[in-house]
Amino acid sequence: MRVVASVALLLSMVCAPVLAEGNITQGQSKAASCVACHGANGKAVNPIYPNLAGQNEAYLELAMHAYKKGERSAGQAGVMQAFTSSLSDEDISDLAAYYASLTPLK
Ligand code: HEC
Repeated sequence: MRVVASVALLLSMVCAPVLAEGNITQGQSKAASCVACHGANGKAVNPIYPNLAGQNEAYLELAMHAYKKGERSAGQAGVMQAFTSSLSDEDISDLAAYYASLTPLK
């Protein structure tokens, strides 16, 4: 039982890093360079890009950190590495809050 609790605790630390609360309005203005691929309303302009509208905020934040750190590097990830390399932690939080706030697509 104690082993299970320890493993659960360890997993929660690994899987749930402390994520900052983002500012939606700031995120919207910072998203100007994202529109070209992810669309004005978070719906991708081309099916080779992911829709972001209504996606989970924490997931979006983790994904952007992973691109920035090079942890996501396969396939098309190089595109996002370029776009996240100059983003601060605050930028990433704001962008995640903004895209999560948009109405999910059907
Ligand atoms: C030139 C096109 C392009 C631009 C501009 C762009 N992205 Fe992306 N984005 C992509 C592609 C392609 C992927 C999928 C990469 C992969 O395969 O991992 C992606 C993936 C993502 C993901 C992960 C989605 C998921 O479901 O895992 C997030 C979050 C994201 N982009 C946010 C942004 C933000 C925020 C900006 C603006 C700062 C931005 N992108 C600008 C092309 C772009």
